[in-house]
Amino acid sequence: MKAMISPDTTIKEVVERHPGAEKVFGAHGLPCAGCHVSARETIREGAGVHHLDLDALLRDLSRFINDGTVPPAQARAGAHAKAPPMEKQHKPGIDRVVAVMSGKGGVGKSLVTGLLAVALQRAGFRVGVLDADITGPSMARLFGVTARPYQGTDGKPHPPNSRSGIQIMSMNLILEDEAQAVIWRGPMVSTAIRQFYSDLEWGTLDYLLIDLPPGTSDAPLTVLQALPVSGVVLVSTPQGLATMIVSKAIKLVKQLGAPIIGLVENMSYFLDPQTGRRHELFGASKGVQLVVESGAPLLAQLAIDPALTQLCDAGRIEEYHSGDYETLVKNFVTVLPALSTAAAAR
Ligand SMILES: Nc1ncnc2c1ncn2[C@@H]1O[C@H](COP(=O)(O)OP(=O)(O)O)[C@@H](O)[C@H]1O
Ligand SMILES: [Mg+2]
Repeated sequence: MKAMISPDTTIKEVVERHPGAEKVFGAHGLPCAGCHVSARETIREGAGVHHLDLDALLRDLSRFINDGTVPPAQARAGAHAKAPPMEKQHKPGIDRVVAVMSGKGGVGKSLVTGLLAVALQRAGFRVGVLDADITGPSMARLFGVTARPYQGTDGKPHPPNSRSGIQIMSMNLILEDEAQAVIWRGPMVSTAIRQFYSDLEWGTLDYLLIDLPPGTSDAPLTVLQALPVSGVVLVSTPQGLATMIVSKAIKLVKQLGAPIIGLVENMSYFLDPQTGRRHELFGASKGVQLVVESGAPLLAQLAIDPALTQLCDAGRIEEYHSGDYETLVKNFVTVLPALSTAAAAR
């Protein structure tokens, strides 16, 4: 026996002392082994909130520590129950589709979509962003893109590129007047989103990120049903209401059988530059609650950062750097393999 672990050892300690142990937690249906929450949570607490067999988990952890054996993933009754299969469009060349969702608007969903796209681009992947918020598009503005889709030498319509080469498609790139109000009904919205996906020539993409319309209405539902979504990232703020609504979003995504690969808590706090004090303007974090409800890891807690607002307003999101963002990038990259598995299992 190389080392002892007890039910009261924190998950973080186990994972740090025994790299790879997060796979054992994952096999038991505890995906948050590498996330923020696990820093405080003990094995007993983790097993408790996820309704896991504590003894079996401890047995498998000891075995892993002794001889490196990772148990096969255990099927959990009720969790991620698959909805009946739907006819999904598959666009050749687009490897994985990641949808970014929130329970309500104004929580920074578009901003997080943009930041995730930049993260993937910096990591060397080929990335596209489809702004599916047809009535409140914001992707083109965040990236400072004003060019319309263009006709390539192949005669097909191509989405324009951002400065760093991210392909962007947004409703306001095809409207005559950017401020023009788009008053569309559900079916029209759904048709536009499908066309953005299938009629545009995206070329070869490792990841297509979709900024979903807010809420749990027809539009986000259509995307989740009609497009081959490999995983969903959920965005919330600590505000009670936003979190309550995001719970509804979690249920919806689970019903549709799309895996939630991570959560992002935005506007978690504000760091006073004068005093260095941390203020939780929207209340205490609800990250733990969301992790428990979704079974997905908390990827990051982003501060309210005036520098970020300014860059977004100037269309220069690609220039953003911060400690919280680094955390988001690091954790997002670690959950990407969950996408491939989901895509393969589809
Ligand atoms: N962490 C943050 N720090 C500073 N400004 C933010 C942050 N998150 C969002 N914002 C700003 O709040 C506004 C709403 O964000 P947005 O991403 O458009 O929300 P949503 O897509 O959820 O409606 C934007 O103007 C954005 O620049
Ligand atoms: Mg938005």
